[in-house]
Amino acid sequence: MASTDITATEEWAALARHARELQAGGVHLRDLFSADPGRVGRLALTAGDLVIDCSRHLVTAETVELLLALADCAGVSERIAATMAGDPVNATEGRPALHTALRAGPGASVVVGDVDVTAAVSAELNRMAGFARAVRSGELRGATGKPVRTVVNLGIGGSYLGLAMAHAALAAFRHRDLDCRFVANVDPADLAMVLDDGLDPAETLFVVVSKSFTTAETLANARAARRWVTSALGPKAVGHHFVAVTADRSAAAEFGVRAENVFEMWDWVGGRYSLGSAAGLSLMVAIGEDRFDEMLAGMRAVDGHVARQPLATNAPVLMALLAVWYRDFWGLQSRVVLPYAHRLRLLPDYLQQLQMESNGKRVDLEGRAVGCETGPIVWGAAGTGGQHSFHQLLHQGTTVVPADFIVFARPDADTAQLPEAGRQHESLVANCLAQASTLAFGTVSDDPHRELPGNRPSTVIMAPELTPSVLGQLVALYEHEVLAQGALWGINSFDQYGVEQGKTLADAIAGDLSEGSSRSASEHDPSTKSLIAHYRRLREL
Ligand code: F6P
Repeated sequence: MASTDITATEEWAALARHARELQAGGVHLRDLFSADPGRVGRLALTAGDLVIDCSRHLVTAETVELLLALADCAGVSERIAATMAGDPVNATEGRPALHTALRAGPGASVVVGDVDVTAAVSAELNRMAGFARAVRSGELRGATGKPVRTVVNLGIGGSYLGLAMAHAALAAFRHRDLDCRFVANVDPADLAMVLDDGLDPAETLFVVVSKSFTTAETLANARAARRWVTSALGPKAVGHHFVAVTADRSAAAEFGVRAENVFEMWDWVGGRYSLGSAAGLSLMVAIGEDRFDEMLAGMRAVDGHVARQPLATNAPVLMALLAVWYRDFWGLQSRVVLPYAHRLRLLPDYLQQLQMESNGKRVDLEGRAVGCETGPIVWGAAGTGGQHSFHQLLHQGTTVVPADFIVFARPDADTAQLPEAGRQHESLVANCLAQASTLAFGTVSDDPHRELPGNRPSTVIMAPELTPSVLGQLVALYEHEVLAQGALWGINSFDQYGVEQGKTLADAIAGDLSEGSSRSASEHDPSTKSLIAHYRRLREL
């Protein structure tokens, strides 16, 4: 069945009319709040431990009704159900997007083809747990018999961003004597900075995470790391110091990873949705299997919320509708993510890939050009640093940027020994709430330089504490938001063909940069040719 062109529907047209009316009437959050005392009660939703306050958005009760009608018309509930059931919703690649099966938990059953994938998931989680236990206890030894002290995760994109984000977020729960590092960039500086930090090859374990096992950056770093290990410990050390997480077991074996040290990444899990899979192995080693399980349980709690809540109280669906509202009916291009938690500082980077690789699409599921704007630009940084840099633009700039604030009621458990931890945390929370309030309501002044117009929308997500479970809930919340957005726009949130051409061209250019190459004369655009020539002159090649 062909998907609906959502922009041609009466629901879309009604929203467009309604937006014009609100804009012409100069809607302001100050008026919306004073006219409607029940607003917070209606627009602050709960999902698991998360309270998601959407009351400071430029919406009236009518807007929400119209948005919900759009969601109905776009078949958002059906798309969510189809995704969770294992239908091949990643239509261009002909496969499911079953990250929810990774955390479906005991007793669940998700069948793909004729196979119940949940059995394979739990078997792999058990293997991961066994491996993590062996590393954490010191039972797993390197080639010289020394236990592992440092785990270096080699991977990029979805094989890195979620992991690094979660590893930083859960610092309070990490094993004290194990260090975990992440190397993603093909720039040799990334690997060098890690290896030169006093690492001993005999005590270092590399986890190569690459679903495809073809990603140039990851393989370049893996080869360099292998050379570093073998030149210190000899060629036989590779089997002791490398494990792999991949869908291509034979490529991993060819690299030198022992069969028992290859963990599975299924083709029905997209890289950017893979934190709960074996891609999370380094994280499990760092925080232990029980904490990892808690993270999965947190994800599962939000999956349950999404599956069971009607659209009107379905938090990720409402967040997706608001994103479409701003992107398509207010023409707002970007969205800022502001975790008021230092340890969540990598959340914006992670969400950039989740959102922009998923929904940075220009054609619908049938390959027709979409008639609307799709994924917003996502950016951000941990509060309170941003307040002393880019918040000026958020408050008084000419562009409006909807914001997501994330804040926790309690400070991280391991900060308690600091004498002022409680007070500092209170200040953090106060700053978060003050920023969201000031963005919404502004300040009136006779001096235009001092006036803050307000009327700048935001969501505040509040949770008790940054625990593995709460982190899992946040991840699942945003995953489902992205999925619901994709359903609204009628696009495939699970492929990423846009990144392929650059990789192919980089391979071609890499050959032309080297000494002895004579190919660049004809095969590139004039600007690239000239830059290659300049590079070669600078390198005296
Ligand atoms: O280039 C984009 C991408 O394919 C991402 O979608 C993916 O997360 C990343 O590269 C890494 O891919 P792999 O896990 O296959 O190395």
